[in-house]
Amino acid sequence: MNLILLGPPGAGKGTQAKRLEERYGMVQLSTGDMLRAQVAGGTTLGRQAKEIMDRGQLVPDEIMIGMIAERIDQPDAKGGFILDGFPRTVPQAEALDRMLAEKGLRLEHVIEMRVDDAALVERITGRFTCAKCGQGYHDRFKRPKVDSICDVCGSTEFTRRADDNAETVTRRLAAYHQQTAPILPYYRERGVLDSVDGMAEMDRVTAEIERIIGRS
Ligand code: AP5
Repeated sequence: MNLILLGPPGAGKGTQAKRLEERYGMVQLSTGDMLRAQVAGGTTLGRQAKEIMDRGQLVPDEIMIGMIAERIDQPDAKGGFILDGFPRTVPQAEALDRMLAEKGLRLEHVIEMRVDDAALVERITGRFTCAKCGQGYHDRFKRPKVDSICDVCGSTEFTRRADDNAETVTRRLAAYHQQTAPILPYYRERGVLDSVDGMAEMDRVTAEIERIIGRS
């Protein structure tokens, strides 16, 4: 099954994509993670992308479309994928349709995660990640069981994303409303769009997504 998790920054796309990956074996394709890997690798693209991401703006469509086209062709995506952070503009959505048609693939579900802007700022500014295994945490909503020790790997080092500050979050939210939200009618017209209440507790959001994908 191929699906898109669509929603503003901090809506819980990454959190839910990881759960679906573990339970159903589909692979999470996060364009944000791909860009951060380029930044960490110090590539030319990474240097260009970092400036744009730190400003809270979107990386140009042609770069993102090329990146996802290459990723979908990898063997681990053959068993189905969850797109997290792509598409983010109408041209990206149109390019994805063409890409899938060429490969004979189908998009079964687009799931919109709805969360109030005020809650998003709290979610994003409180987020942190284990520096060793990448496990995600939150100052308020998901603390490690033992303070300052990762539940999964025992590491005591944690990182916060450079773009997870209140000022950049406000710009990322504006980019979502102006450039990404117009994708919703695009998918509604195609009959693949469902919405979930992303304000609900994490397990309830997972259950709602599972109910939707269980229909197909
Ligand atoms: P990206 O990495 O995609 O960031 P984003 O869309 O801003 O989304 P986030 O990763 O911030 O949030 P999320 O929805 O995954 O939430 P999470 O699960 O972590 O993109 C970063 C940048 O890269 C962009 O700004 C852009 O510059 C560039 N980019 C990427 N893709 C691009 C594209 N296609 N085109 C152009 N540019 C692109 O949850 C957040 C926090 O909330 C966590 O701490 C979590 O524990 C907590 N939480 C989750 N669910 C709940 C819940 N139900 N209740 C309480 N807390 C919750």
